[in-house]
Amino acid sequence: MLKNPATKYQPFPLIDLPSRQWPTRHLTQAPLWCSVDLRDGNQALAVPMNVGQKLEMFDALVKCGFKEIEVGFPSASNTEFSFNRRLIEEKRIPDDVTIQCLVQAREDLIEKTVESLLGARKVVIHMYNSTSPAQRKYVFGKTKQEIMQMAVKGAQMIKDRLHRLEATGTQVTLQYSPESFSATEVEFAKEISEAVMDVWQPTPERKMILNLPDTVEVAMPNVYADQIEWICTHIKNRDSLIISLHTHNDRGTGTAATELGLLAGADRVEGTLFGNGERTGNLDIVQVAMNLYMHGISPGLDFSDMSGLIHMYERTTGMTVAPRHPYSGELVFTAFSGSHQDAIKKGLTGYEEHKTMWDVPYLTIDPNDIGREYREVIRVNSQSGKGGVAYLLESEFGIELPKDMQREFGPIANDLVDQLGREVTATELKAMFWKEYIQVEQPYALHHFHADGVDGVFTCRSSLVINDRERGVVGTGNGPIAAFVSALINDAGAPSFEVVTYREQSLSSGSEASALAYIQIKTATGSVVWGAGVDTNIELASIKAVVSAVNRAGQTN
Ligand code: KIV
Ligand code: ZN
Repeated sequence: MLKNPATKYQPFPLIDLPSRQWPTRHLTQAPLWCSVDLRDGNQALAVPMNVGQKLEMFDALVKCGFKEIEVGFPSASNTEFSFNRRLIEEKRIPDDVTIQCLVQAREDLIEKTVESLLGARKVVIHMYNSTSPAQRKYVFGKTKQEIMQMAVKGAQMIKDRLHRLEATGTQVTLQYSPESFSATEVEFAKEISEAVMDVWQPTPERKMILNLPDTVEVAMPNVYADQIEWICTHIKNRDSLIISLHTHNDRGTGTAATELGLLAGADRVEGTLFGNGERTGNLDIVQVAMNLYMHGISPGLDFSDMSGLIHMYERTTGMTVAPRHPYSGELVFTAFSGSHQDAIKKGLTGYEEHKTMWDVPYLTIDPNDIGREYREVIRVNSQSGKGGVAYLLESEFGIELPKDMQREFGPIANDLVDQLGREVTATELKAMFWKEYIQVEQPYALHHFHADGVDGVFTCRSSLVINDRERGVVGTGNGPIAAFVSALINDAGAPSFEVVTYREQSLSSGSEASALAYIQIKTATGSVVWGAGVDTNIELASIKAVVSAVNRAGQTN
């Protein structure tokens, strides 16, 4: 890189618009949407979609609610041409959906485009030519005047052919794009657009679309907003135009540019699913739609089955959605870090209890709204704390660890996960819990337990395996647990301890209902240790929990 980039690159000129209004406006409704996946998205693929893949994507776009879909560049390839024909001849286009086709301002291409659209119900013919100084100079070697003549001639050629479509009942809307608009002087963009308008003669009843592309993102989004507001406030017959935005993402601000462009007065947005498109991609329409949604504005597009949409997209385009891609990425609702997990867990519980407005920390929207499950939200690795571990055990298996026990098991699980050096599943966490609490049988293992009570005094007769040798033990107390504790200490010779906390819960997994008991004991040396036991019988589960706690106390002392 250069030490002084100013020797090679220059700042972008600002737009003179002291009366700009967009900074104080806010968005209150969704724009018109047009998907350009099948054209701009497709033309950016190393292997463009075949007809079958395009059909699959078209159906998916319709299902999402797109009413305008740019289906291709039919004069550019046979695949695109036959795709149009199949859509039309097989009557695959719903009545309320308009298909749009891109074409350059050239007679042969316009002719072919019109042919590809014959018999369609509603179409947009989208003509473009490039207008920026660099394009004029290097690509076309033409003056502004000559570039304007190209646009006017193209507009006239389209106008001359409209009757062919309209004669058979096709409703045609015309669209013009001064390509590379954002790199074009606004005055010239206005002049050339008005020249096209002079040919097409749009009216408030029959508007034309003026699409203003950020073909290559060359400046900050506020500059694009200024350009859009400048056009909206300076162009003639604004009420005969649908002002459309078409941003790319070269500086990484395609979404911001679109949102500010809408504040600046645009009516319509072109973009693609997940931002597929030339170079860094087109605007990701899902993002703008979901940004509206998270502020309570219905986008008019439905992404309830985000995973299904991603699968369709990956299958048809061969592209992937990055794990951190806003709204759609696999990890965007996931928290690994303990403090985030804790906050999410509390926020979700609060939301469930009060069902007021969504305000769960770290989650911009409810993942359920786009078909994502809460089980994806909290995932456990070495960064996670007790909250995440407890959440997974509870949400996946219904294991409700007492708070204090979470503080004991959390670090134990955390160390094990750290040793593994990877993310762990809920099943693995359950196995860790089982190994730590349920399967500890040294030095004591319970073989048999029986307790009887007379006048509030219980006697237990048990059989224990102590250091691999079986023997009977007897004890008394004011309940079965107390009797067993006495048998352990006074008959089996266990070091003295007292039961501090007891909790039980029922667990139903599959057809077998069982009980899970948690016991916390305090040893003579003052250590506090938890144990857990599981059994179909709650009394036995609690006795096993005592054995578990005593064994663990022995191991940890
Ligand atoms: O990015 C662009 O300028 C385009 C035009 C053809 C609209 O895709
Ligand atoms: Zn584009």
